[in-house]
Amino acid sequence: MKLTLAGSIAYDYLMTFPGYFKDHILPDKLESISLSFLVDGMVKRRGGVAPNIAYTLALLGEHPMVMGSVGEDFSDYRAWLVEQGVDVSGIRVIPGEFTASFFANTDRSNAQIASFYPGAMSFDVQLSLADLTDTPDLVVIAPTDPTAMISYVEEAQALEIPYLYDPSQQIVRLDGEDIRRGVEGALALCVNDYEFSLVQKSTGMSPLEIRRCVRFLIVTRGEEGATIYVDDEEYHIPVVPPRKVVDPTGVGDAFRGGFLSGYSHGLGWELCGQMGALAATYCLETDGPQSHHYTKEEYISRFREHFDDDGRLGILRNR
Ligand SMILES: Nc1ncnc2c1ncn2[C@@H]1O[C@H](COP(=O)(O)OP(=O)(O)OP(=O)(O)O)[C@@H](O)[C@H]1O
Ligand SMILES: [Mg+2]
Repeated sequence: MKLTLAGSIAYDYLMTFPGYFKDHILPDKLESISLSFLVDGMVKRRGGVAPNIAYTLALLGEHPMVMGSVGEDFSDYRAWLVEQGVDVSGIRVIPGEFTASFFANTDRSNAQIASFYPGAMSFDVQLSLADLTDTPDLVVIAPTDPTAMISYVEEAQALEIPYLYDPSQQIVRLDGEDIRRGVEGALALCVNDYEFSLVQKSTGMSPLEIRRCVRFLIVTRGEEGATIYVDDEEYHIPVVPPRKVVDPTGVGDAFRGGFLSGYSHGLGWELCGQMGALAATYCLETDGPQSHHYTKEEYISRFREHFDDDGRLGILRNR
């Protein structure tokens, strides 16, 4: 199955300040606020939802394509994705721009001052599903520039490319009508519990109406697991207990990657969900959305400590 992931591609620059921001903010001088924090730690991480999902798929032996815009600072990230087995032919470099960058400074109380510069991501609207050399069997329409998300939905519908709609963080930036159109033409909707309520609120659709629009609906519920709704069935997917909880960034994306790997092999709904749950747990156990690693053998044997696959996961070895 040819999978394309259309969504943000970004770098995260994460800094730590060994004090408290509040000690340096002078309420009577707010008009002339000017602060510089000497930080004692900084990491630069590969992120963005499309490569995050692709990374899990690649770990599981798939060769997914990422579609998105990046800046001139992308070459090391590109090389790394290629090494993991990701198809980068849908990634376009915008001359003179930076890759979308998230700069966050966190103090000792976990207070955060952050900025997000979209940079090249603002050019995603110029990309088109119609320009892909190979028509994908499934596209994930994940958060990126909201105008681009709207046009990907229109294109997928016009070209009759099945899509999994994953508006998550951008729900708040899309109109109810746009979200409704996204849901109505989708093969599937995948959101967390909170986002599912937001979708209902902004579209005015009931949970049942949403379920009837799509072939399947996935609602993730953090440490409570996930539910997959298909026809009149509901599959509850429990979590895989983490050995340690380090950083939740990217768990939702890892879940999607694991689920889609199972889906692309035609495995049953429950098995696909369980694959997502284990992929998410691996992500939770390391710092950052693409820092975890496992071989297919390690993944299969850990899977079998928790779930019964009846030998079906052996199919991963053929990739
Ligand atoms: N504490 C946890 N322990 C084990 N598994 C977890 C935990 N939190 C999340 N997961 C797994 O990850 C899946 C997705 O989590 P969640 O619903 O929090 O996604 P999310 O809110 O979209 O996350 P994010 O957007 O921050 O990546 C869950 O369905 C579950 O399988
Ligand atoms: Mg999420």
